[in-house]
Amino acid sequence: MTKSLTITRPDDWHLHLRDGAMLKAVLPETARHFGRAIIMPNLVPPVVTGAQAAAYKDRIMAALPAGMSFDPLMVLYLTEDTDPADVAAAHASGLVTSVKLYPAGATTNSASGVQDFDKVRPVLEKMAEIGMPLCLHGEVTDHEIDIFDREAVFIDRILDPIRKATPGLRVVMEHITTKDGVDYVKANDADLGATITTHHLIINRNHILVGGIKPHYYCLPVAKREEHRLALREAATSGDARFFLGTDSAPHVDPAKESGCGCAGCFTATNTMALLAHVFEEDDALDKLEGFASKNGPAFYRLPENKGTLTLTKQDAPVTFPDKIHSDDGPVTVFDPGYPVHWTVT
Ligand code: NCD
Ligand code: ZN
Repeated sequence: MTKSLTITRPDDWHLHLRDGAMLKAVLPETARHFGRAIIMPNLVPPVVTGAQAAAYKDRIMAALPAGMSFDPLMVLYLTEDTDPADVAAAHASGLVTSVKLYPAGATTNSASGVQDFDKVRPVLEKMAEIGMPLCLHGEVTDHEIDIFDREAVFIDRILDPIRKATPGLRVVMEHITTKDGVDYVKANDADLGATITTHHLIINRNHILVGGIKPHYYCLPVAKREEHRLALREAATSGDARFFLGTDSAPHVDPAKESGCGCAGCFTATNTMALLAHVFEEDDALDKLEGFASKNGPAFYRLPENKGTLTLTKQDAPVTFPDKIHSDDGPVTVFDPGYPVHWTVT
């Protein structure tokens, strides 16, 4: 039996495109399905200034295959030296959509992130004044905090104090992985939103660790217990407009993942929309997929919805996705949900 669903063309509110050969390989995977994406600035060196964001945006557009349309929404990497005036100018010109706060050392290429949150206060105050959203990697980095508790501790120690000290600051908690994150968003107002990845709706920590370590399921924040995955599923499929899709698709070449010290990141750009259709159908919530992937994000970011549409079709036979995509830097493994999927973008 075929079944199909047409939705407004979706956006990805958290995406890693990298640069150079990797950018060229992964960009079409996103642009094929998504109208826009919030482009993570954790390059080496990071995208810190408006001028660097403009140059990166030019490189992204130059890598876009002819005939594809895609609008990269640029993001500045917040450092303790960021100039509030540069941020405001880059936002006013329409070049930059948001600013990203990484606690120093929290994840891949976050060494230039923030250690002393008081030092970035003038930037946050300027952002609250101009209504510019702050994207947050919500994990503390203290060595004594267990990696599975880092998101919950971040909410209490960093996020809640920042929001209380900066009224009007619009915050996106990115890639939430816990029931604590879901509950914190629900308990607050429309100035607080959260993105949820595709893979965190599918895997829990057992998938990473039981029966042998699975490096392609390792990402940050790391997947948590099943009760947390279920809370994320409930939030994503609930229709609550404060939750929206940010895939955090984060390509690393296979040798960097399949290593004694493997990199964090799941690459989901290729099959995200098909996997989401599977997940939402499983939870009897196919009618909520368009909100999650195409409507709630633009509403939070105060941008128009995309004009085009995307059609998903369910077929009898399982769909075969490529195991890997190939870049001139090496192969990148595509996220495997571990079960057959019958949905495809048609
Ligand atoms: C991201 C990356 O590889 O850049 N990795 C990840 O596991 N999500 C960084 C990030 O978003 O934390
Ligand atoms: Zn990310």
